[in-house]
Amino acid sequence: YDDHSRDLPWRGEKDPYKIWLSEIILQQTRIEQGLSYYNNFVNTYPTVYDLANASEDEVLKLWEGLGYYSRGRNLLFTAKDIVSNYDGKFPDNAKELSNLKGIGSYTSAAISSIVNGEKIAAVDGNAFRVLARYYNIDKDIAQNSTRKYFEELMTELIEGDRPGDFNQSIMDLGSAVCKPKRYNCEECPLNESCESFAKNIVDLRPVKIKRIKIKDRYLNFLVLREGNSILVERRNSGIWKGLYQFPMIESNKIIESENELESLTNFNLSNVKLLEQHSKAHKLSHQNLFISYWEVKSRALKVNVNLNDIENYSFPKPLKEFLEYNILEVNI
Ligand code: ADE
Repeated sequence: YDDHSRDLPWRGEKDPYKIWLSEIILQQTRIEQGLSYYNNFVNTYPTVYDLANASEDEVLKLWEGLGYYSRGRNLLFTAKDIVSNYDGKFPDNAKELSNLKGIGSYTSAAISSIVNGEKIAAVDGNAFRVLARYYNIDKDIAQNSTRKYFEELMTELIEGDRPGDFNQSIMDLGSAVCKPKRYNCEECPLNESCESFAKNIVDLRPVKIKRIKIKDRYLNFLVLREGNSILVERRNSGIWKGLYQFPMIESNKIIESENELESLTNFNLSNVKLLEQHSKAHKLSHQNLFISYWEVKSRALKVNVNLNDIENYSFPKPLKEFLEYNILEVNI
């Protein structure tokens, strides 16, 4: 690790706020993608007090495009919690950290091992993979009960006074060498004692049995424009809660015609026209979204946002792309 660790902006950092930010941003996110978000958050909100004073709209705007938006909402909730109930100071141990919203056993262990030197293993996807291969463990890592087994095993391995570096060395090994598919065993510093390598079954570890059912959803967005303004609304539930969208009608299959769409709505629409229909799904972790955009006119619905201000609103990725390519471009 001392010779080969990745050069990352939070390495060497002991401020729990910044380590917490980096860990929340990096959950379910590749480092390359997370880096600019980390820098933006640290620059915009240098302390937990600055973040706690932000509005949800502002935080979700900075989070825009990163996905899994509940992380952004929980980030703000926990910043407020720390300021109101913890005198602005993060707890100094993993157990108490894990009581905070959005902080589970991996994140609490990562923060506390890095910031406080607590001897506790942070088991992320990389650690599951490295350990399952090294020790040839065939337990199903998709089972919740397996996590405890790996955490105990890895905590036992921590020696000396650098648990944070130990944890991060396993993460780096997993992301640079012991990769899911393109693993590079020839270069691996552990190859002489790796059991899966010896047995030539590296690609069979870890065992992960998928059980989640991926649901297909059909979303029809109504694009209502008048002059330089457009109608948007704030979502108040689901994965995109707090983000903005056009009024939406969900259907149970792809809508082919304007008449069909009109028969599904309670809105009084006129002049419905299909603008764009994606034949390929927008894939989320548990959902495939089939998205269509319909231009509509309506006497009952009124535009509410000027396109010059649309930058200030946070949109889910597919809607942002639609806006950029199909709406804003037209206006330039
Ligand atoms: N992924 C999430 N947190 C990380 C860290 N601190 N180092 C390397 N990879 C990570």
